[in-house]
Amino acid sequence: MRVVSGIQPTGNLHLGNYLGAIRNWVRMQDAAQQGTQCVFFIVDLHAISMPHDPAELRSGVRDMAAALVACGIDPERSILFNQAQVPAHAELQWLLNGTARMGWLNRMTQFKDKSGKNREGASVALFTYPILQAADVLLYQATHVPVGDDQKQHLELARDIAQKFNNDFCPEDAPIFTLPDPIMPPQAARIMSLRDGSAKMSKSDPSDMSRINLTDDADTIMKKVKKAKTDPEPLPETAKELEGRAEALNLVTIYSALAGKSADEVLKDFAGEGFGKFKPALGELMVETLSPISARYVELREDDEALDAILAKGALKARSLAAPTLSAAYQALGLSRG
Ligand code: TYM
Repeated sequence: MRVVSGIQPTGNLHLGNYLGAIRNWVRMQDAAQQGTQCVFFIVDLHAISMPHDPAELRSGVRDMAAALVACGIDPERSILFNQAQVPAHAELQWLLNGTARMGWLNRMTQFKDKSGKNREGASVALFTYPILQAADVLLYQATHVPVGDDQKQHLELARDIAQKFNNDFCPEDAPIFTLPDPIMPPQAARIMSLRDGSAKMSKSDPSDMSRINLTDDADTIMKKVKKAKTDPEPLPETAKELEGRAEALNLVTIYSALAGKSADEVLKDFAGEGFGKFKPALGELMVETLSPISARYVELREDDEALDAILAKGALKARSLAAPTLSAAYQALGLSRG
């Protein structure tokens, strides 16, 4: 079993990332049996697909390294690094560019969403982004990829690329690439914005009130939850009755993910109550979960050298783990390297 996943270095970690993905990274790391390797990286190479500030990117990588360690990623047990230190990611992407089809990339919703009306002005990197993501997981023979629901399409593409490469260039009994499976948390695969129940909670939302950042203090969290958009109806008895009430459903989903209960169980405690009672309870639960993480983050973020050392050590391990698959891919394509 090989657990592999990545996260963007842009901006702070938010509750959507945490409940949708990072908490699963930590759980899978902690449950890992001997022989299971967990590989987690900060995708700084992906970050240049959008306009960016180099100094912000540099510090964003350290921010994210500190945040991941604060959440419970243990660099002694898991391999933790930033992509730019492992050239095999970019190399394998180029090799896979020959296998990926234009039609497949044309169907990717992220490019459509992020390029918007300015398709012609979007970077080529934004278009080929999913091929780098495929390289990220195929390079390490990932079997399990813990992600939120929004990454499902990218993972399907990685499987398609792996399958076509294996079919085109490998003997039937000796495929090079493993087909990765996405692992999504059943309760929290998609955490929505606090301001709009139809948009996912995201770092790129211009309103900070739309998300809970892992570094928000208790007062900010309580304020954001109290101001979260809701409706005037009381809470029902079952989750099914929340249909058509996207904002209410989102808050109940967050509560259930934090409390480790099903939405129906949560509603048993709050049925008939209004949000005036529910929101403070939800806020408290968030503060309880996030305050130890945020305290640890502040401590870790003070020491750039220690963070750089963690990433450098992780990159060293990643480079050797990646080498055999990269060599096999070069060889299968008939590319000689001396
Ligand atoms: P990124 O940085 O946008 O998000 C990191 C992880 O957080 C999850 N996530 C969410 N889950 C639930 N609700 C939300 N509102 C929410 N927002 C974010 C994402 O699904 C993701 O798991 N393309 C990827 C990074 C990447 C990657 C990879 C992931 C690059 N290479 C290889 C896995 C494997 C991204 O931009 O994630």
